[in-house]
Amino acid sequence: MDRPRDVDDLLALMAGADIFDEGEALDHLDHGLQCAALLAERRPDDAELQVAGLLHDIGTVLVPGRVATHARRGAAAAAPILGERVSRLVAMHVDAKRYLVTTDPSYRGQLSEGSVISLAEQGDAFGPDELAAFEASGERDAAVSLRRADDEAKVVGLRVPGLDRWEPVLRAVAGDHAGST
Ligand SMILES: [Fe+2]
Repeated sequence: MDRPRDVDDLLALMAGADIFDEGEALDHLDHGLQCAALLAERRPDDAELQVAGLLHDIGTVLVPGRVATHARRGAAAAAPILGERVSRLVAMHVDAKRYLVTTDPSYRGQLSEGSVISLAEQGDAFGPDELAAFEASGERDAAVSLRRADDEAKVVGLRVPGLDRWEPVLRAVAGDHAGST
């Protein structure tokens, strides 16, 4: 699939996401489901954030192995179906890692082996201008929540709700987006 056209395509992509990033023990379906489940607990009123958590690595599902560009690729894929905010949150999940590396001294030690491997290619810590731009974003807190869930969503064998839990949420977010354009 070059580019998903609708929610059915997104669900099909995630259903087939049995690929692993270097240094990771979970495939992208289990990782995305765990991330979404954590956000549903922590941000129960923010369906867009939960959906962004489910799909944050869809860029890697589309084109495996490009860690430096997968956030932008995923954001571009999500935008026409799920709207600008979901797209922005997907785009920000790598910058949120760089933000936390820059601002939280304990954070680097919490990263998985795979996230440490990709961090160098993604630019490592922020410079001052990048830090200021991220802090000024109205989505900073949501993006950091997504990132913390992303980092924790790597528990081998943890059972969480499957894609059927997320299908109506995806359709609702896509419907809201369609209704607003
Ligand atoms: Fe992730």
